[in-house]
Amino acid sequence: MQSLIDRGLVVQTRPGTVPMRKSYLSDSKGVQVGTWWDDISMIRGWSHEKTGFATQKPSALLERIIRATSEPGDLVGDFFCGSGVTGTVAEHLGRRWIMADLGRFAIHTSRKSLIEAQRELHASEKSYRAFDIYNLGRYERQWWQKASLKGADEEHRRVVLEFFQAEMLQNVPSPLIHGRKNGAFCHVASIDSMFSRQDASAVARAAAAAGGRECYCLAWEFEMDLRLTVAALEQELVVKLKLVQIPREIMERNRKSPPPFLEMAVLEAEPVYRGKGKEDRLVDLKLTKFLPSLAEVPTKELQALKERAVKSGFDFIDFWAVDFDWHPNKPFNHHWQDYRTRKDRSLKTVSEAGRQYAKPGKYTACVKVVDVFGCDTSITVEVKI
Ligand SMILES: C[S@@+](CC[C@H](N)C(=O)[O-])C[C@H]1O[C@@H](n2cnc3c(N)ncnc32)[C@H](O)[C@@H]1O
Repeated sequence: MQSLIDRGLVVQTRPGTVPMRKSYLSDSKGVQVGTWWDDISMIRGWSHEKTGFATQKPSALLERIIRATSEPGDLVGDFFCGSGVTGTVAEHLGRRWIMADLGRFAIHTSRKSLIEAQRELHASEKSYRAFDIYNLGRYERQWWQKASLKGADEEHRRVVLEFFQAEMLQNVPSPLIHGRKNGAFCHVASIDSMFSRQDASAVARAAAAAGGRECYCLAWEFEMDLRLTVAALEQELVVKLKLVQIPREIMERNRKSPPPFLEMAVLEAEPVYRGKGKEDRLVDLKLTKFLPSLAEVPTKELQALKERAVKSGFDFIDFWAVDFDWHPNKPFNHHWQDYRTRKDRSLKTVSEAGRQYAKPGKYTACVKVVDVFGCDTSITVEVKI
């Protein structure tokens, strides 16, 4: 007792009261964690980390799991990532990570959360890594192809053209021309391919050779930057290609009435140069046009949204980012980004990165937009220094 008193570890709040021993948390070894973790509170309405994702887990919970089971540099996987807490905490703790989810909202929420983590790490001068998002599976389509179409490309074309209310041509002028609608030709890309620049060129040439002036290109997915190719082909061959997304509703069982077929999103951007000479030239990118694809919108709301999209397409952007030095087959670097949050709905349309390039020359910047429906659209923009 004397030794404790000498070390100032005994306190008596008033004379006559029972003396008490002071103990410091830092001297305590703690209690080994059990199998019932009720010391971490759930995400509540007022939690600052709340993203709006219904099943979000608290980051303190993931931090405990990740610290207990891995070392810095290890690879953490969460294949049902939801709001992306696992990857975000892993990034903060210096682990590498892979996440997957089949929900678009989950992917988008995770992306925002990781960008937030990058910003925080950057602000505290810690390193962070670039990440990329890939669309790997076409499960619903593959199932439909097997179960309903019996795998046949011919049957796929027939169904797509029927829903598109186009006539299927019997004597085709080219194997790339499959139908006709109101005087325009129709091309249906195969079910498991992405409509590429080469495809666009081949279809435009086939349509021109057959004397066509307009051709609908119906596909499930389109390669990035197709608009530029399409504009060039239109000039060269005087054939207008209309890029139309095949709507997923046609896979619905017992679907008889045609769902709307809509043209794919339009995105345009241009560089903004500041500074005088080449050496101190600062580059930013300006969004000049965005028209979302309304392919995911319920038919009831389509007309109203169409009008709004034409009038103010930027209202439909939820997030956009710029990689100022983009290379094909390399991950997209989020050099600059802006997005709407639940509290702040404003969005800049000119980046504020003030990018300085080391050497004069030509560079390719990539602009990625994610709209309020969760759809990604990207284009490249040439930057000349
Ligand atoms: C309970 S939530 C995960 C919540 C997450 N731990 C968080 O903190 O936000 C489960 C997630 O699994 C996804 N999911 C369900 N089945 C899946 C599958 N077969 N492949 C990938 N993701 C799937 C759902 O979309 C959902 O986002």
